[in-house]
Amino acid sequence: MKTTKLYPLVLSALVLLTSQQALALAVLLGDPENGSKLESERCSGCHMRMLGGDGSEIYTRPERIETVEGLMQRVEICNVNTQNGELSSDQLDDITAHLNETYYLFDD
Ligand code: HEC
Repeated sequence: MKTTKLYPLVLSALVLLTSQQALALAVLLGDPENGSKLESERCSGCHMRMLGGDGSEIYTRPERIETVEGLMQRVEICNVNTQNGELSSDQLDDITAHLNETYYLFDD
């Protein structure tokens, strides 16, 4: 009886695990070279006005984002909140891949 009750729990844990891997995979699938270009053209100007330099300090600040999911969400929010909100989800994947490769280094 007890084993039967545990089954749905185990199953949902598995589903959760799989969807997190799918999210991480989306980061790895992006094209970082294109993402780097897009980031300079569409994103860094505003971060630069906030922090000076090339604006990249926003990605290395002590309280920076700590998960792949958080990074993807933040990229999406910045895209929506700014006048550049028209970037496609493929372009956002490219930018996320670039930011991960250059600054965040989440492995999966
Ligand atoms: C009009 C201004 C503006 C533009 C344009 C902008 N951002 Fe941001 N961005 C911000 C602000 C403000 C924050 C800090 C928010 C906070 O402190 O929580 C931020 C924070 C971030 C962070 C979080 C860094 C961290 O680890 O804490 C990421 C990632 C990010 N932006 C990505 C992007 C990307 C990608 C684009 C281009 C698609 C973009 N931003 C365009 C204003 C902007």
